[in-house]
Amino acid sequence: MLARSCARATRSSGPIRSLLQKATSRASSTSASEPSKAGNVVGNILATSGATLVGVGAVAWYYNQYGPRALAMTPAEEGLHATAYPWEHEKLFKTFDHQALRRGFQVYQEVCAACHSLSRIPYRSLVGTIMTVDEAKTLAEENEYDSEPNDEGDIEKRPGKLADYLPDPYKNDEAARAANQGALPPDLSLIVKGRHGGCNYIFSLLTGYPEEPPPGAAVPEGLNFNPYFPGTGIAMARVLYDGLVEYEDGTPATSSQMAKDVVEFLNWAAEPEMDQRKRMGWEVMAIGSALMLLSVWVKRYKWVGIKTRKLVYNPPVGPRSRTPRGA
Ligand code: HEC
Repeated sequence: MLARSCARATRSSGPIRSLLQKATSRASSTSASEPSKAGNVVGNILATSGATLVGVGAVAWYYNQYGPRALAMTPAEEGLHATAYPWEHEKLFKTFDHQALRRGFQVYQEVCAACHSLSRIPYRSLVGTIMTVDEAKTLAEENEYDSEPNDEGDIEKRPGKLADYLPDPYKNDEAARAANQGALPPDLSLIVKGRHGGCNYIFSLLTGYPEEPPPGAAVPEGLNFNPYFPGTGIAMARVLYDGLVEYEDGTPATSSQMAKDVVEFLNWAAEPEMDQRKRMGWEVMAIGSALMLLSVWVKRYKWVGIKTRKLVYNPPVGPRSRTPRGA
């Protein structure tokens, strides 16, 4: 009966249908001793086609989930993938190299500060990490800031204090755009966190300007070719050249050295808590593992009486049970 209704259902599929019909006719013509054979054939067909369907479905689902990715941009538009450099300060047991931070801050001040702000960094945060209190105070006093309104309501200028933030190079975004062919130099405080590839990307960007754009590359007017920048045309020209700054510690100021130092400095600007965070992480791991071991020990200690207990069942000795009926 089941075989017949199946055959009816699969009317459209030729081979399966004839097979089923054969099976049903055999089932109806053969004697009652072989009814299960036809059922077996139909069951096999159903199982095979079911398994095939599940298999095809699984492959289709997997392809849909993990097949080729649909990208909004071509790889060229995305920018060349930055090389992964073994940054010392990114290693789990390492801290920022404060001498490098000092050099990086010097590069920022002498080169990048002409166009880029670093608006989240107050002078006070430089104290103890990059310079001494006196150096930071002197640096702050070089710039003027608005004071509180006086009794007449006028706002006067006063020299900077440790609590002030590093000054912006431009009055506002419009002025910044006007000075840079319409492109806004982004604030660098969080740029290491704000760009895919972090330190690697910024280092590659700063050192990745070729002498000449490769043949065939279309560089729009006013832009510079840089393969690491998404779209390859960047408004910022190459800024780092060998010997551009003079390091006070005598480190040779090659462009890659300056790029490395300024990137490490920008990483500090974005994550000033990094050293402490790593240290706290290790403390948590150490204390956590000690507590874990202790809790394992306490558990075993508490359970030992239960775990080593032996339960024995001694059935009561009595009259033999009745013999079962029918025996
Ligand atoms: C002459 C001005 C100028 C100087 C100096 C300069 N930049 Fe730029 N920078 C720009 C402009 C303009 C942009 C925006 C580029 C664009 O959007 O096409 C930019 C963009 C950037 C970006 C963002 C790129 C991105 O992915 O969006 C980074 C990072 C950067 N600059 C780092 C630096 C560093 C580090 C220095 C110092 C070593 C520096 N810049 C010096 C003008 C400058």
